[in-house]
Order: sequence, then C-alpha cells, then structure tokens
Amino acid sequence: MNSRDLGPRVIVALDYATGAEALAFAQRLDPKRCRVKVGKELFTVTGPALVEQLVGRGFDVFLDLKYHDIPNTVAAACKAAAGLGVWMINVHASGGRTMMQAAREALAGQTRPPKLIAVTVLTSLGAEDLHETGQTEEPAVLVERLARLAASSGLDGVVCSAQEAQRLRQACGPDFCLVTPGIRPSDSAQDDQKRVVTPQMAITGGADYLVVGRPITKAADPLSVLDRINADIALAAGR
Ligand code: C5P
Repeated sequence: MNSRDLGPRVIVALDYATGAEALAFAQRLDPKRCRVKVGKELFTVTGPALVEQLVGRGFDVFLDLKYHDIPNTVAAACKAAAGLGVWMINVHASGGRTMMQAAREALAGQTRPPKLIAVTVLTSLGAEDLHETGQTEEPAVLVERLARLAASSGLDGVVCSAQEAQRLRQACGPDFCLVTPGIRPSDSAQDDQKRVVTPQMAITGGADYLVVGRPITKAADPLSVLDRINADIALAAGR
C-alpha cells in the first residue's frame, strides 16, 4: 500500500481516432480527478497540438509513445516530449541501460521533467513469442530483470500488469513508480483484456497509477464511474 500523496491515480486512456473526439471527451473530465494518456494512434493523427491543448486545459498527460531506438535518438525524442509539458513519458527497457541513461540525462536540464518510465515486456507477448525472439527466461523473470535494469538506469518506474505489481514493488522499492493497465471495476465489461484486476486489487498490490480506458470512455456518465473508481482507490489506500 502506498502512503505517498500521488495526486489523481487514474490515468484515462484517450484511445480515440481523432483529436476532436479526444477533446470532446476530455471536456467531460476533470483534471483534478484524473490524468490522461495519449497513445500512438492519437498522437500520429493529431501530433503535438492535441497534447498541448490537453496540457493547456490543465491535464497531466502521459505521452505513451514507448520510445525504442539508439540512445541519441531516444534522448532527443524525450527532450522534445518534455518540451510539450507532459507529465509522464516512456521508453522500452529492452533498449538497454545506455539508452535509458541517455533518456534520463536528456531530461536533466528541464524545470519540470516528466516522469520517465519503462515498458518491460509487452503483455501481448507470451512465453512462446519470447522464446522465438531468443528470450529463454520466463516472462515474469524477464519482467523483473528489466524492471531492475530500469531502476538502476535511473528511471522513475515501469508500466506493468497489476498481477506483477507486488513482485516489482518488492524488487524495486517503495519509491519506484508502478503504472498498471488492464483495470476493470467488478461490474465493468472485460472487453479484450484477458487478465483484469479491480482498482482495489491493483492498489493493494502496490500500483501507483491505474490506466483505465473503456470502463470510463464508454460510460454513459464517465465522471460518476471515475468518482466510484477514485472512491475504491481511496478505500484500498486506507484514506
Ligand atoms: O480500454 P482499456 O482500459 O482496456 O485501455 C487500456 C489502455 O492501456 C490502452 O490504451 C492500452 O493500449 C493500454 N495498455 C494495455 N495493456 C498493456 C499496456 C498498455 O491495455 N499491457
């Protein structure tokens, strides 16, 4: 359980195909009660302008572009992302220590640097897929190895499944930021997520921030669903 004051712990995934839809939906949210995530599809369609508009409306933005390239390129991309005023960015831990350290150093001169987190193993990859790429470790072992590598490379945390949170909290310490997607309130549809976890379970397991998409974006009354999730989080966090 996390006793630090983390501010709003729900990150609403703005998985929309156009900027107009994303902005119209953001209009129905409250930046004091959640943060938002912009991913590859939306960013590719809208570019930085949408991110700047969301930041301008007071939202903390997680720019989920999962950089993975040579250190110089990733460092420059991270610096450019920081220039947009976003709250969180991410890179692939499998890009290696030098790449992650370059990303960290690129943010050093920023007045309000974004949180820099890593993707360990994409949850879409099973043991078979990993073996085909030459990875012989079991997924959970590889996840922990990459999370430890991210931590020792100076990153602020990782994206992980809530089922891994407890193990990574123990491995990487109390201040390491754990961001968990695959969250479903108990009365929500599972959609295409296979192993879902409720907000309470994720918080109890040690997650800091919960990425929630469709249970909020498809709701008739998004703010009331958000409020209920926030209440569940507060209960699980003992506040
Ligand atoms: O709608 P839903 O709550 O399933 O959305 C989850 C969000 O988290 C999506 O933006 C998805 O791409 C992202 N995500 C995920 N699983 C991961 C990593 C990211 O669902 N392992």
